[in-house]
Amino acid sequence: MENSHTPLAKTIHWTFSILYAYGIFKQVEDLEQLDDASLLNFEILFAVVFLVIVMLRFFYMKDAKTLLGAYDEMHKGHLFIAKATHRMVYFSLIMLPTTGLLIAGIINAGIPGVGLAIALHEFSAFLSYVTIAIHIAASLYSRYKGEGVWNAMVPVWREDSKKNSNLISTLEDIENKIYDKIEERFINKN
Ligand code: HEM
Ligand code: HEM
Repeated sequence: MENSHTPLAKTIHWTFSILYAYGIFKQVEDLEQLDDASLLNFEILFAVVFLVIVMLRFFYMKDAKTLLGAYDEMHKGHLFIAKATHRMVYFSLIMLPTTGLLIAGIINAGIPGVGLAIALHEFSAFLSYVTIAIHIAASLYSRYKGEGVWNAMVPVWREDSKKNSNLISTLEDIENKIYDKIEERFINKN
């Protein structure tokens, strides 16, 4: 049985994380900065490259199994929320460059609406922080329980086996109740 993401999937995951961090840290501080035509052009180029890579990645990963490395079979409700979180991450990563390009388009065309485009851009940045923070917290939680999911994507600080303790059993009981509810509500609707 497959228990690790492909080397290409891992390479994309980690090089893209660097590109995302770069995009966030080098962010435009305010609209006036874009009076500089070379900065504006660079931003546009960066946004296009970022968008193309996100789309290629999305199509490459679309059919990969979620929570692939898990030693035990995962609850359907668990798979559902993990997949939903990944989709939300993708949504925010597509919205970020798209709304950035919208800002550039409005500036170039000299039409009104740049305030709204900036608000959408800021919202996209906020959404990416929240969804990626949830994603990283969930990965660390899974690592703590030693489920195997971490090892399938992260090449460092490997986990060795499934951990068991009273605390983990209690947490898993709570999780299973939540996953049952999610399955009932979103998967077995009929
Ligand atoms: C310390 C940082 C991170 C850790 C520990 C981490 C961990 C993981 C793990 C374990 C998986 C596999 C989940 C599965 O098999 O279903 C995964 C997948 C994924 N990660 Fe991360 N991740 C991190 C940072 C990021 C960042 C910064 C992004 C976005 C820019 C991201 C986006 C994704 C997405 C979209 C997936 C689903 C698979 C895919 O489409 O590539 N991750 N991550
Ligand atoms: C992948 C590409 C991009 C990323 C990752 C990105 C990221 C960000 C982030 C994180 C912020 C701060 C938002 C906040 O305050 O919460 C920001 C602000 C901003 N970005 Fe981008 N951006 C991208 C592309 C663009 C493009 C193409 C333009 C326009 C040419 C642009 C114009 C702006 C402007 C004007 C602001 C400042 C908004 C303000 O006045 O507060 N961005 N960007």
